[in-house]
Amino acid sequence: MKILFKNIKGLLQTLDHSIEYIEGKQMKKLSKLNNAFLIIQDDQIIDYGIMNDCPSIDVDKVIDVKERFIMPAWCDSHTHLVFSEPREKEFVDRILGLSYHQIAKKGGGILNSARKLQQETFENLYLKSALRLEEVMKLGTGAIEIKSGYGLELPAEIKMLEVIKKLSNNYDALIQPTFLAAHALPEEYINKKDLFISEIIDQWIPEVSERKLAKFIDVFCEKDYFDIDETRLIINAGKKHGLIPKVHVNQFNSIGGVPLCTELESLTIDHLEILNDQDINAIKKSNTMPVALPNCSFFLNIPYTPARKIMDNNIPLAIASDYNPGSSPSGNMNFVVSLACTKMGMSPEEAINAATINGAYAMGLSKEVGSITIGKKANLIITKKISSYSMIPYSFGSNLIEEVYINGKSLLDK
Ligand code: NIG
Ligand code: FE
Repeated sequence: MKILFKNIKGLLQTLDHSIEYIEGKQMKKLSKLNNAFLIIQDDQIIDYGIMNDCPSIDVDKVIDVKERFIMPAWCDSHTHLVFSEPREKEFVDRILGLSYHQIAKKGGGILNSARKLQQETFENLYLKSALRLEEVMKLGTGAIEIKSGYGLELPAEIKMLEVIKKLSNNYDALIQPTFLAAHALPEEYINKKDLFISEIIDQWIPEVSERKLAKFIDVFCEKDYFDIDETRLIINAGKKHGLIPKVHVNQFNSIGGVPLCTELESLTIDHLEILNDQDINAIKKSNTMPVALPNCSFFLNIPYTPARKIMDNNIPLAIASDYNPGSSPSGNMNFVVSLACTKMGMSPEEAINAATINGAYAMGLSKEVGSITIGKKANLIITKKISSYSMIPYSFGSNLIEEVYINGKSLLDK
């Protein structure tokens, strides 16, 4: 099936194949062709350019895009989309004065999600997660990373990873699985943390890697969760089994997770709400991509990642939704892009770069998605009629997406 999109008001993020991500200072520029065409064949982008150069070839369908923009679908590089139940009671408790930490100390938070997930059947967990995935695909997400981490015991972690695998087999969105073994210490292991960590290292990681259920290894490296030495042990064990590190660091405290993860050649370090100058210097010297999660800052009322400081140091930045029941019950990347502009001082160009090509890099997919590039997946957002692409972050709360193509197929055709 060959489709020609013609008279595109603006075709955004047209990039050469050699570009894997965009560095901090270059993020100010977003490539754009005015009055453009785009041709896709089956699941791939096969040609694009300005209308004057549009070839007259046989196609199966012509779509007149007039007054609308086309851009690559969002690349959401950090989510916990597989979970059992929302945690709106904890949300109300926070409004009434409890902190995220106080709720966690009372057995809420991650432990609460784990208890529910352990009891959920595979089929129900799959159906609930599939609905969330469908929702975010309609909101323009074409590639997504999904973590385990609400199992806190091996069978439940495997259940989560099997759900992610089934989603990946059944949906067109590109899905990258992450094993988040050390997300919190289960109650049964209080005073036996070393035992929990050795089980992760000696049993869980080998089993998950043997079954090829994950591509990445993650740890919640944070005060009261997993410290630097514990994080190092788990990341190194993951690397030994071929898993690439992508780590939760500096959400509430800077405890040395950034220099550790850059030294361990982590693909990404995520959160970074608290970031000091030594952390910035460590990132600068590395190939690690920082990932900001503005929904989490918004929802928990905590500081936003200092995006300007990161980009002004010429460090690339990705943004992602962190979709999860505790700190970000939304996977809407349009809102993430909006918050990046209004709360982190990113320009619309910077935010779109961070949510497309840099997001693709942040899950090891920049050869496949994240830009309008010949040979890449036809994962596309077609906007409604809008005056400029700045309308996307400007009109927060409104959906300006008219149609989404994932893997060359329109979601409206289903
Ligand atoms: O990225 N910080 C660790 N994990 C999640 C939240 C976990 C939860 O509250 O369920 C996050 O914010
Ligand atoms: Fe997270």
